[in-house]
Amino acid sequence: MDIQSLLDFSNRDTVRDPYPAYAYLRDHHPVYWCDCFKAWFLTRYSDVFAAQGDVKRYSSNRMQQLVDARVPAEKRGQLATFVKLASEWMYSQDGAPHKASRNLLGKAFTPRSIDSLRQSIQDITDQEISRLEPQTDLMANLFNRIPALILAKLYGIASEEALKLRSWTSDTLIFLGSSLDPDYGPEQALNGVEEMYAYFADIIEQRRKQPADDLVTRVLETSQDSASSDDEVLAQIVFILVAGYNTSADQLCIGLLHLLEHPEQLKALKSDLNLVKPAVEEMLRFDPAGSFSHRVLNEDVDIDSVTMKKGDLVYLMRASANRDPAKFTSPDSFNIRRTNNDHLAFGRGEHFCMGTALFRLEAEIVFTSLFKRFPGLRLIADKPAIWRTNNLQFRGLKALPIDLGKGV
Ligand code: HEM
Repeated sequence: MDIQSLLDFSNRDTVRDPYPAYAYLRDHHPVYWCDCFKAWFLTRYSDVFAAQGDVKRYSSNRMQQLVDARVPAEKRGQLATFVKLASEWMYSQDGAPHKASRNLLGKAFTPRSIDSLRQSIQDITDQEISRLEPQTDLMANLFNRIPALILAKLYGIASEEALKLRSWTSDTLIFLGSSLDPDYGPEQALNGVEEMYAYFADIIEQRRKQPADDLVTRVLETSQDSASSDDEVLAQIVFILVAGYNTSADQLCIGLLHLLEHPEQLKALKSDLNLVKPAVEEMLRFDPAGSFSHRVLNEDVDIDSVTMKKGDLVYLMRASANRDPAKFTSPDSFNIRRTNNDHLAFGRGEHFCMGTALFRLEAEIVFTSLFKRFPGLRLIADKPAIWRTNNLQFRGLKALPIDLGKGV
């Protein structure tokens, strides 16, 4: 393949498997200007790692630049509301406002409050697994449901409601992740965000009148102590759904696919389910669902004699960093016994993902339960997995047809 095609990030084949392009960039252009995203790509582990820790020069306040880079000038005005709302999400904030937002959610995400969800996650998983047909699409019928049902439990909302929320986050994320799909454009992203805000504003009102044992009530309690405004509370409550739903669904599904495509690894895991935890870390390293994050430069930055200018958009390519041979031995091998798996799937530093403990617990329970119940689970030869190829940032599968084997 010629280099131009290899590096064409608007091409669905590149989105389907961007790893050869990342390898080329790490070797030849570790600081690369991508014309189609109008952004710099940092692809080496050391550069991505350093940029995440450097909040002084790399700002997270990115929404306006992302919209400017993606949307033609004449359409940007329509997205002013989107930019305003999404700029209040903690992942778009810097400095003191960012710290205040993390504190707001802190109580709901302590290790203890996450561990208290263990039994609920197990119950949801058992219930969902028991509904499965012998041959089924696990993306639609399991992985797309479990994270939504867990978030519903966290928010204290009914399960049917949670399943409805899913399309709003997809609309928003596919757009944010540089949609190649006309069905996921700026209008859909704006509608998704507006509907989420209306929905959660109502839930917040209900919890104010009638507190419950859930995330929304905990955030409201913290907000009284910290004097946070209603808008701040609403923004972070909505953001949990944006950050936590698609990433988890996609990561579970991608992770299982890689496991099934590596029969010796699968065999080892089935004979020792203690390997589930390191296997989940390897899934996160090998193919992270959120493959990059964006930053905007507060000042000019030089790396390897390339000058990136103040105001430029920079993409921290975590998926590429996770395959950097300077950091990982045999990085393109999927190895569930890998030790020192210091991957960047959840980010690092001040914006380190707040949902890591929740996702790890969820993945441990889901995979352990699946393989205990269906040790013969396998891919179906004439029905291959189908990748979604409309989004480089949020990678995932459209369908994962599976034969569950006999079950026990
Ligand atoms: C496999 C699943 C997940 C992956 C791969 C993932 C990945 C990430 C990454 C890379 C960031 C950093 C973004 C940046 O630096 O710009 C992040 C931030 C965040 N994630 Fe996750 N995430 C996952 C699941 C979750 C879940 C389940 C939740 C909550 C329910 C969650 C909540 C958050 C929050 C609140 C932030 C913002 C932190 C901040 O800006 O200070 N994530 N996530």
